[in-house]
Amino acid sequence: EDLELSGHEHYMLKEMREQPDAAETCLRGRLDERFATARLDGIGLDAREMRGFRRVKVLGCGSAYYVGQMGAQMIEDLARIPADAEAASEFRYRRPIIEPDTLYVAVSQSGETADTAFAVSEIKRKGGRVIGVVNVVGSTIAREVDGGIYLHAGPEIAVASTKALTNMGLAFAMLALHLGRLHDLSFADGQRILRGLERIPAQITQILDDEPAIAEVAGEIAQAASTFYIGRVRGFPVAREGAQKLKEISYVHAEAYQTSELKHGPLALINAQMPTIAIIPGDDLAKRNVAAAEQVLARKGPLVSITHPGVELDHLGVRSIVVPKNEPELDPILLTIPTQILAYRAAVVLGHDVDKPRNLAKSVTVE
Ligand code: G6P
Repeated sequence: EDLELSGHEHYMLKEMREQPDAAETCLRGRLDERFATARLDGIGLDAREMRGFRRVKVLGCGSAYYVGQMGAQMIEDLARIPADAEAASEFRYRRPIIEPDTLYVAVSQSGETADTAFAVSEIKRKGGRVIGVVNVVGSTIAREVDGGIYLHAGPEIAVASTKALTNMGLAFAMLALHLGRLHDLSFADGQRILRGLERIPAQITQILDDEPAIAEVAGEIAQAASTFYIGRVRGFPVAREGAQKLKEISYVHAEAYQTSELKHGPLALINAQMPTIAIIPGDDLAKRNVAAAEQVLARKGPLVSITHPGVELDHLGVRSIVVPKNEPELDPILLTIPTQILAYRAAVVLGHDVDKPRNLAKSVTVE
């Protein structure tokens, strides 16, 4: 076991640090410069079929569901096809309407999550087309889907998913680019996204290099009984995934909330004992997000921002984790990485079994 850890304290730490290489492997051979698109030969559907889809529905559980939400946003942004994500665990227990012109996407690191696998078989039984975004080659879900995108993240041992999640984000970005170029995404925009994807591995390294600063923040978060993670639009799935990670491995309560909804309810909970982690990308909503941060600070709530260079926060005197900027559509992939480090460091400070958190399994193969 020690050998496999190759000097790292935990598998989760090792896997977080493997992310730049894992991302490279995921992108390798799939970026098509000539047509400014992504080559995804494993999907197994031809251009005509792909063009015919009027809607995309992403299904997954836990972290995979949250990245699926990021992915649905990317598809809407780049392909302008209505897309949304739903927890596969809910989908399977209602009476979902399966439409022939909807592309279903099942997302799962292990490919063995029972709730997701069941959703896939229901879709297939009812005549829907479903592709997989899966890490484990030859897994149950990978075998059952019509085709898909393998993540090539390598084996992931820690229960809390890191490198597989990042590669899920990349897979969705490539799917969105591919669909976009079959619809109305321009050649120039296709190139812009390709350039952005190429920058990601090195930008992940930059974030990982900031680990000591993030660890300091984690020390404070670990002392809290309860925390908020806030984000809006593209930042909301980042907040959901960040909150999930903190809960899973540090057992500190974390609630993800849309920044826009804070004033419609939970603001009353903010006080000096309740830290907020605010996702504030440098986009057209930055001013509004900064205003929401001011509301938290006015109630004496400690605030940490996960943000981009150039977002004006200094005057507020808050702690900021500054993430390198990419294209707005791709930013959520990078903004998520500090939340992994935060959760990891908080769990280490609290002395928990990081790789095998209580009550959780790597893949939940029961109902
Ligand atoms: C379990 C784990 C989560 C994981 C989810 C989906 O619930 O605790 O961390 O995100 O399964 O796993 P999958 O293998 O389908 O991506």
